[in-house]
Formats: sequence, C-alpha cells, structure tokens
Amino acid sequence: MKRKVTKAIFPVAGLGTRFLPATKSVPKEIMTLVDRPLIQYAIDEARAAGIKEFIFVTSRGKGALEDYFDTAPELENALRRSGKTALLEELKNTNMESGAIAYIRQHRPLGLGHAVWCARRLIANEPFAVILPDDVIAAEKPCLQQMTEAYAETGGCMVATMEVPPDRVSAYGILDVREDMGNMVSVQGMVEKPSSKDAPSNLAVIGRYILTPRVLQNLNRIKQGSGGEVQLTDAIAEEIHHGRDVFALRFRGQRFDCGSKAGFLQATVAFGLSREDLRDEFAQYLTEMVALQKAAQ
Ligand code: G1P
Repeated sequence: MKRKVTKAIFPVAGLGTRFLPATKSVPKEIMTLVDRPLIQYAIDEARAAGIKEFIFVTSRGKGALEDYFDTAPELENALRRSGKTALLEELKNTNMESGAIAYIRQHRPLGLGHAVWCARRLIANEPFAVILPDDVIAAEKPCLQQMTEAYAETGGCMVATMEVPPDRVSAYGILDVREDMGNMVSVQGMVEKPSSKDAPSNLAVIGRYILTPRVLQNLNRIKQGSGGEVQLTDAIAEEIHHGRDVFALRFRGQRFDCGSKAGFLQATVAFGLSREDLRDEFAQYLTEMVALQKAAQ
C-alpha cells in the first residue's frame, strides 16, 4: 500500500528580487492577492490535500512568515470585544496546531534542490510534497489534492505539468515524455531550463511535486546544474535513470506565475473577479478601464 502524503515543504528562502523595492522589507510570500498572502493560498491547498506537517525553508528576513502563522492574542481580543466574529473566523485559517509547522534555514542560496535537501531530517523516510508558493493555482479541486489522488494509484514521483509556449520553455523544468496518457504523462527525462531548440517537449513542470525520500538521497550526491544551482529537476530525473516511475499530472485549473509582475497582476484580477463581494464593482471598473485604453489608442 502506498503511504499517505502528510508532509509538505514550502521553499520560501528566495530574495524576491523581481519585486524590489517591495521585497526589501516584506517577504514576497506575504504579498497579497486581494486580502490573503500568497502563502495562505499554498497552505490552504496543502491542507485540502491532507497535509498535516508544514516545513518552511526560509532565510534571513522572513520573520513576517513566522508571525503570520502565530496566534495574535491582542488582535484576537480586540476583534472579540468588538463582535467581529467573521474576521475572527477568517483568522483561524492562519493558526497552526502546535508542532505542525517547522522552519529550517537555507543558509546559502544554492537553488531549489538544495532548499528541499535542507529539510531532509524532518522528512526522514516518507513521501512528501513540495509546493512553490509563487505558482498559484485556481482550481475547483485544489491541484495538490488532484495529485495525491492520482498518486494513490501510481506511487513513484509526480509533478504537476502544463503546456507552455515554445519561447517560454527556458523558464521551466521541461519533460521528456515516455507515454502521454492524457491527464497523466509518464516521464522518461527532465531538463531544467533548456533552450527552445534543446527542449524535449513544451510540457513544463509547475510548482507542485510529490516525491519519494530517495530524491533526498539523490540530492546528497547531485552537483550544481543549470544556472550554477542544485536543481530539484536533476534529482527527480535521476530516479528515472534508476528505472523508477516518474509521472506528470496535467492538472485541471488555472495557474498564475506570481513570481512575475504580469502574472501577479493577472492573478489579482482573476481572484478579484472571483470574489462575490467585489465582483460587480471591480468588473465595472475593468470594463471602463479597457474602454478608456481603447479610446486612447
Ligand atoms: C522552479 C523549478 C522549475 C519549475 C518552476 C515552476 O524554477 O526549478 O523546474 O518549472 O519552478 O514554477 P524557478 O521558477 O524557481 O526558476
């Protein structure tokens, strides 16, 4: 029987340079889509998939993340006194059971593979998930849950995937496909950030992974790869070289690249429009803006 996936790693050590100067003092994972920080979307998705232990790989200057998941007695008391029960309820999502959350520091920025490896002692010998909070996925059934359900059938390693335009392959881990079964793809190789002429396909890895503990052992040995960093992609590809199964799930949902300004703005519009309390006013404003833009052209 395959083990249940109950631990997830959240690599959040990045400097967020693409969002400077904002990220000079605010971790990018705290930046908000409507009224919730990016990290909250990632945590909610993990919870929906049955994750019980949350491991953050952080770095200097990420203290706001720890505070975010702590109780805030003064704030809670003030809300209670003024009868703001809906807000109190909202805050419950930010509370973590004691011991359910752990913070590990990545002391040097050596890449995603290295960040995951930093959490090896907390993972020990069980399958685990990795969620990159920059990749926000709007879906009826949360993406990681789609993956854990599929993983219950397949075992092995699994990544989330979607097609990207050929001129974007150099921004992603790209899959070499063994067999395309529709929703599920069997993978025979993975390349991190290939040039468009070297890319084996245009199926990109999106920031959701279910991995076996062997990937951590691979990371022990792996040398720096693309961009001089230790790549998680290479450690997963090594599993394939050892004859073990790696699958990719074409998830159902819309992915936003919140690591880029354009993607973040698109997510803001999409999440704003999906909120009942904002939809009408916001949609009307957007329509007016578009008309004004057109008239100005
Ligand atoms: C990371 C991974 C890459 C993956 C991407 C998804 O790259 O290394 O394989 O395709 O996330 O967002 P990064 O965006 O951190 O450069």
